[in-house]
Amino acid sequence: MQNFDFHNPTRIVFGKNRIADLNKLVPADAKVLILVGGSSAEKTGTLAEVRQALGGRTHATFSGIEPNPSYETAMQAVQQVRDGGHDFLLAVGGGSVIDAVKFIAAAALFEGDDAWHIMEKGGRNITQALPFGTVLTLPATGSEMNNGGVITRRDIGAKLPFSSRYCYPLFSVLDPTKTYTLPPQQLANGVVDAFVHTVEQYLTYPVDGRVQDRFAEGILQTLVEIGPRLLTATEPDYDDRANLVWAATMALNGLIGAGVPQDWSTHMIGHELTALYGIDHARTLALVLPALLHERRAQKQAKLLQYGERVWGITSGSNEERMDAAIAHTRSFFEAMGIPTRLSDYGLGADAIDSVIHQLQAHGMTQLSEHRDLTPAISRKVLEGAL
Ligand code: NZQ
Ligand code: ZN
Repeated sequence: MQNFDFHNPTRIVFGKNRIADLNKLVPADAKVLILVGGSSAEKTGTLAEVRQALGGRTHATFSGIEPNPSYETAMQAVQQVRDGGHDFLLAVGGGSVIDAVKFIAAAALFEGDDAWHIMEKGGRNITQALPFGTVLTLPATGSEMNNGGVITRRDIGAKLPFSSRYCYPLFSVLDPTKTYTLPPQQLANGVVDAFVHTVEQYLTYPVDGRVQDRFAEGILQTLVEIGPRLLTATEPDYDDRANLVWAATMALNGLIGAGVPQDWSTHMIGHELTALYGIDHARTLALVLPALLHERRAQKQAKLLQYGERVWGITSGSNEERMDAAIAHTRSFFEAMGIPTRLSDYGLGADAIDSVIHQLQAHGMTQLSEHRDLTPAISRKVLEGAL
């Protein structure tokens, strides 16, 4: 196992009717800015519940954070934070709102002349951030219990990640009943995003991280078990929703990634597909991952065989056949969740591949993977395998 530091300061407040706990979680004298996405938090009544829980505290609302949150919108929120003298931020929404709030919390106190520098440095130049909490309404990204975010700058078509130890939420309220209003497409996205996060920290090369491996396999098996049921249930099942929420949080809160190699190539290639073609985040991952596993089967052989056996029960056949079967199961699982796995399903062809490779190069994504040897030429082969 590799050396690691593990520190996760986010308090998780999990279960039914936990939004009322905001009254205990938010400092009594805080001047709160609540931040939401389009209209879902208002329509579902979650925003009203949050406002009620804040009681007599001074608060205002910023709405309009879009999916794949933009730098441009985030900077409008920074202005509102400064003008209103807010000292506590509360994100109510999915990964996009939470990511934007992390950026806003850091940008509001950023001392440089241009907050975009935060993204150019991947967050390494963040030295402070406003305190913030979250109320999660879409289980997928794990943003509710990690210190990372992804921000898009529309004018240059760049979707870039950042992280900082100042960007952990103070607390996150995880009420599985808040997922009941999600459309099937977003539920499926959540399952696939959490699945791929787990795979990217698990399916690399063995370092005898037995606890991390078995945690990862447990998350993958849970998602395989509940995923299709979430789509076909006529009424939401509380326990299935609770398991989805906790699986997604655990998939990216640092625990399964501690002390093991990681390969975020699928995400980095996927981000370019979202920035260029507006494909939902999780859907880009379903396009890239099966093709990437195929292309990198030699580097990943030992873990690919372990994954096939422990997650999919594949125990017979030659190594090549078992790896093929593991990849085929992965592809079928995404498709069973209603998520396409081919670029052609989105009307994209060879031209799109040229554009993605160009953007990867422009963003310095030239040494990806657990071995840092996944060059743009290999990314091209991966995408050709996804046509
Ligand atoms: O905008 P509103 O009206 O609120 O609607 C949202 C949005 O349209 C809707 N929604 C959210 N909760 C709902 C709901 N609709 C009905 N009922 C509810 N309870 O769902 C839509 C999608 O929301 P969004 O927040 O964009 O989805 P998600 O949570 O999948 O977040 C995706 C973003 O997170 C980034 C992605 O790149 C993408 O920008 N990621 C962040 C990560 C992190 N911080 O660690 C890791 C991930 O890999 C990912 O890259
Ligand atoms: Zn993701």
